[in-house]
Amino acid sequence: MVRRPLIIDCDPGVDDAIALLLALASPEDFNLLGITTVAGNVPLNLTQYNARRITHLAQRLDIPVYAGCPRPVLRAPVTAEHVHGQTGLDGADLPQPTQPLQPHHAVAFLIDQCKAAQTPITLATLGPLTNLAVALIQAPEIVNTIDQVVTMGGALGRGNVTPNAEFNIYADPHAAQIVVEAGLKLTLIPLDVTHQVITTPERLAALENLGNSVGQAAAGLLRYYGQREGECYGLAGAPLHDPCVIAYLLQPDLFSGRPMHLAIETDSPLCLGRTVADPNGDKSANAMILETVNAPAFYQLLTERLGGLHRD
Ligand code: RIB
Ligand code: CA
Repeated sequence: MVRRPLIIDCDPGVDDAIALLLALASPEDFNLLGITTVAGNVPLNLTQYNARRITHLAQRLDIPVYAGCPRPVLRAPVTAEHVHGQTGLDGADLPQPTQPLQPHHAVAFLIDQCKAAQTPITLATLGPLTNLAVALIQAPEIVNTIDQVVTMGGALGRGNVTPNAEFNIYADPHAAQIVVEAGLKLTLIPLDVTHQVITTPERLAALENLGNSVGQAAAGLLRYYGQREGECYGLAGAPLHDPCVIAYLLQPDLFSGRPMHLAIETDSPLCLGRTVADPNGDKSANAMILETVNAPAFYQLLTERLGGLHRD
């Protein structure tokens, strides 16, 4: 099997952490070139630190972690400690990272990797799109060596940070607009999909019963995360947003969607960060918008892969 060259851009964040574990548990599928981090759920000093805690937990110290942009392109920063805790990874006692943060800026890493790529690179984005947007401004030619971008973000229905906007887009709507208009092969996984994969008690128990430290940590993180996210929506658990991006790259047939024209609201105070997707308009489609996911198969994939990570 050809291993897909992959860069994951993220803001760990509990669901980012689970997505990273799923990718780190899939070395036969991914040539994971690096993890880039951005300010989002918590400030950059914590997102980069948390990404290194996760590579340490997965015993994948071979994967370099880079710090990127500490703030959005234009708007004031917003964070989500009320969802992920003050550390960004509350709910589990994770190891301190032993591997250092890479000295190069994440944007420089993104550009260098795209320019040097022999095989076009896949980008998985799990947080605000600031790093990718700045890379596209600095080196627009990287569009030619990016195979595709798969992004968790947006909502066709109700938002989660305002009634009209999802966090990743709301946190940096101008970056999202730059990415959407760059001419990339873009797949968007909105809240309408991620709210179909709820961390129910049975699914958490399956992770906890894996018999390895990764399963224990994942269950602890998700129990904490589910308290707020689940209560907020009156659900039996939390929507598991970011792992959908990695699951889509592993098993795209678990998902379905349609090509649509996608635009980002960047001016309206009430609708800032709204993802406006039009499947039928006269404007040409610039994104694949996913709409459904096979939730049981998603959790089977996640549980099996995390179970394959090192046995203590
Ligand atoms: O709205 C959910 C998204 O925002 C997820 O990526 C979560 O980690 C936060 O970044
Ligand atoms: Ca995230």
